[in-house]
Amino acid sequence: MKDILDQLEARREGARQGGGTRRIEAQHGRGKLSARERIDLLLDKDSFEEFDMFVQHRCVDFGMDKAEKIPGDGVVTGWGTVNGRTVFVFSKDFTVFGGSLSETHAQKIIKIQDMALKMRAPIVGLFDAGGARIQEGVAALGGYGEVFKRNVAASGVIPQISVIMGPCAGGDVYSPAMTDFIFMVRDTSYMFVTGPDVVKTVTNETVTSEELGGAKVHTTKSSVADGSFENDVEALLQVRRLLDFLPANNTVGVPEWPSFDVPDRVDMSLDTLVPDNPNKPYDMKELILKTVDEGDFFEIQAAYAGNIVTGFGRIEGRTVGIVANQPMVLAGVLDSDASRKAARFVRYCDAFEIPIVTFVDVPGFLPGTAQEYGGLIKHGAKLLFAYSECTVPLVTVITRKAFGGAYDVMASKHVGADVNYAWPSAQIAVMGAKGAVEIIFRGGDAETIARQTKEYEDRFMSPFVAAERGYIDEVILPHGTRRRIARALAMLRTKSVERPWRKHDNIPL
Ligand code: HXC
Repeated sequence: MKDILDQLEARREGARQGGGTRRIEAQHGRGKLSARERIDLLLDKDSFEEFDMFVQHRCVDFGMDKAEKIPGDGVVTGWGTVNGRTVFVFSKDFTVFGGSLSETHAQKIIKIQDMALKMRAPIVGLFDAGGARIQEGVAALGGYGEVFKRNVAASGVIPQISVIMGPCAGGDVYSPAMTDFIFMVRDTSYMFVTGPDVVKTVTNETVTSEELGGAKVHTTKSSVADGSFENDVEALLQVRRLLDFLPANNTVGVPEWPSFDVPDRVDMSLDTLVPDNPNKPYDMKELILKTVDEGDFFEIQAAYAGNIVTGFGRIEGRTVGIVANQPMVLAGVLDSDASRKAARFVRYCDAFEIPIVTFVDVPGFLPGTAQEYGGLIKHGAKLLFAYSECTVPLVTVITRKAFGGAYDVMASKHVGADVNYAWPSAQIAVMGAKGAVEIIFRGGDAETIARQTKEYEDRFMSPFVAAERGYIDEVILPHGTRRRIARALAMLRTKSVERPWRKHDNIPL
């Protein structure tokens, strides 16, 4: 028996070596951790249970029958816990055939995807790979298809998170693209459908991997990625932090963690957050940080469309999604990028029963040919659609401007918000007073314009016209915002909404 046990341990040790010491050292030399080191950092200590560590490829083409058979076949899979909660994980091993996906490699991922869905637990994929196993051809493509199908089947049922920690090319990009969140590691990761060599051949563009699909590109330009981190360690610790905010699946509701921050904490500094001058910006993140428990806010897409802020916080230890216009960037205007960013976030929250708190200070939609040609109507409609189809609790606080169509869109009473508050500084109107008067009194002399502007301001530049109609439930004191939101969310916990049957909606894509 001892021999058998020794043999098992030797086989295990061999499998743990992946592509061997030389390749692991090369990995370290590039500032990257190995597939197993990453899993150890992601999961609670000693909680990882590995599956399929002895699986090998079955390819016999292009010399693969003579190539060394490396157990594990380029991906480490299994499950463990993050702060005690079950999480499934697969981690591509770049030291084994460049982490490329073979038929058997795909089967390992598929097994984990199926288990995660059956167990209704989150799944995290760590990517560092060269796409389809080139020697296998269509068997690898088939494997990808099976993985993709499962990504879609699990979408909106269990959280799916992808972390890009090295190359991610060809077939490897589309699985992350169908998950909920993609994070990248700065300087060592890149994602593209076709690499610089193919780009050069087809379009004659000369571009580096970093310029084509580095973390900066995907967090600021393409919005493919939701965030980037300095190195592997930071990325994995932040994914642990994110998982703490997320429900295990779409039916269990948000997790509840102990909080030391009392719900009725007031913050007097909020009474002076909004400047006297309506055109002066202020930082909406200050309100967010002063509202959520312990100032703990996990921002999603921080580097993209900064005119809207999205992310997770907690109130009374329970997760909320925060959506907020940011007056510091483009005066908080809604443009195509901001609308798409917020729409996706709102839909995520709704799918996973995460209540949404919306802070509004929006001067309207951004005018101009660039926006209109770029489909502002369609993209703005995404956000309007997303809020309108929500069944989760929606609490809205208008801090200053809520103008025009953007007033409707930003979780107004009319599209289904449950509790709508406004600060005394709120201005709810079709548009700003000056613009409005210049249209109504076109050609009027300066004195008329000034007088009418004052009258328009007095009439509409306040929360009270909306409050008189019940569009605003109450005008609240800024310093009590956290308490009011906490009370509203506590009341809304039993919210239940019936919708007529339909196969699915037809959100403008
Ligand atoms: C088999 C691969 C491989 C692959 C890398 N390797 N990619 N083996 N299939 N796709 C192997 C290499 O042979 C090498 O083996 C080891 O992995 C490390 O690769 P290097 O090239 O030495 O590393 P590096 O210089 O860092 O370059 C990494 C890379 C490059 C940029 C990922 O390897 C590369 O361009 N690979 C091919 C990418 C690609 O075109 N994939 C197919 C995409 S098509 P040794 O033994 O030397 O360590 C696709 C279609 C699916 O995915 C579409 C579905 C929708």
